[in-house]
Amino acid sequence: MALRESALFNRDVIAEIQRAAREGVYDIRGFGAKRRLPHFDDLLLLGASMSRYPLEGYRERCDTDVVLGTRHAKRPLHLDIPITIAGMSFGALSATAKEALGRGASAMGTSTTTGDGGMTPEERAASKTLVYQLLPSRYGMNPDDLRRADAIEIVVGQGAKPGGGGILLGQKISDRVAEMRDLPPGIDQRSACRHPDWTGPDDLEIKIEELREITDWEKPIFIKIGASRTYYDVALAVKAGADVIVLDGMQGGTAATQEVFIEHVGIPTLPAVRLAVDALQELGMHRRVQLVVSGGIRTGADVAKALALGADAVSIGVAALIALGDNSPAFAEEYARIGTAPGYYDDWHAGEDPVGISTQDDDLADRFDPELGGRRLANYLRTLVLETQTLARACGKSHVQNLEPEDLVALTVEAAAMARVPLAGTSWIPGVADGA
Ligand SMILES: Cc1cc2nc3c(=O)[nH]c(=O)nc-3n(C[C@H](O)[C@H](O)[C@H](O)COP(=O)(O)O)c2cc1C
Repeated sequence: MALRESALFNRDVIAEIQRAAREGVYDIRGFGAKRRLPHFDDLLLLGASMSRYPLEGYRERCDTDVVLGTRHAKRPLHLDIPITIAGMSFGALSATAKEALGRGASAMGTSTTTGDGGMTPEERAASKTLVYQLLPSRYGMNPDDLRRADAIEIVVGQGAKPGGGGILLGQKISDRVAEMRDLPPGIDQRSACRHPDWTGPDDLEIKIEELREITDWEKPIFIKIGASRTYYDVALAVKAGADVIVLDGMQGGTAATQEVFIEHVGIPTLPAVRLAVDALQELGMHRRVQLVVSGGIRTGADVAKALALGADAVSIGVAALIALGDNSPAFAEEYARIGTAPGYYDDWHAGEDPVGISTQDDDLADRFDPELGGRRLANYLRTLVLETQTLARACGKSHVQNLEPEDLVALTVEAAAMARVPLAGTSWIPGVADGA
């Protein structure tokens, strides 16, 4: 009889049960959700034809700039492109990788972001515009760095783990990481899942006030949330005084989280954008409080669709690391030695990264050239921008920000319901009477 695999207990499930029986502890890994989820691939853009008028690629402009933090800050961020680099911690990433992110972002006129573990001087020096994260852990928190930053991002949650805290295993807590975080080196660390000094949105309002005073009302205050009860979370963040909402969907990357968390908590980026825009519109704050969306952005098509749904900008994590050189085929032999292969490597928590990005091992980190990494990232960002402009021009837009839901249709009933755009070839939006 032919071999017959169970759909329920397939090879992956069996292997995981066997691993759990052997090790007695949940699996931890980096990267984002790996299973198929509703995403921007389930949407299509309607290029112009007769009823709409496209723009000419080489002669007609399609602008890409965006200003973040126009609500209260004296010095909002003026970015040349609507794609920023997401917060990734020094600790999860090597100092050279953090520097490369700053170099790549600066070359393209956009911002990069610190992370759990604080700001390194190399990162500050390499980044024209640097957003400083204030996290529940407070690791590496330094009031002087708040003033050195160009904006402040209060992290409430992350898309890969809304409701969960961080993990950094001992092998990545080098002397430098330990000193910046006030931790003993070499010992596994867990960071908090909620801020120690506030228990709800009212306290958050006070915290924001405090940060504005420390920074003389100059710097925009971002609030980052993992997508789950997005409509209410966005409304509360606006009420608390946010200048910018950073919304990280379920596909969002992480350096180290329990597999069960990554794959089973939160909602995908696609419905989350829709809910966030609904909340902002309901409050009359859409475009006054800017919305930055992350979680699985890979191509200019993803960027264009997120903007069309109402985001002001997007942010990237995993894709930026891949652009730096993560999972590069050039390291195939070394990946094989640690039991993996290019295209599959996600043990970012282990600190053995042969490319030198997700490690604190000096010898490995020294392999990574931040100038070259920065150039690769800039090339990748440039490509994303060109792709986004190409799509926007095809929809007749002279600014990528002018993309709108009307430019979109959905390929699946699920995506139509979640993004609230019509199913392709119909005027049907599930859940909306008569497609109105
Ligand atoms: C290696 C790595 C480290 C991260 N560290 C942090 C962090 O310190 N703080 C944070 O708010 N988010 C962190 N994130 C999440 C990113 O900021 C971002 O939300 C996510 O990567 C976006 O999704 P994408 O990777 O699909 O682009 C990290 C992600 C990665 C891949």
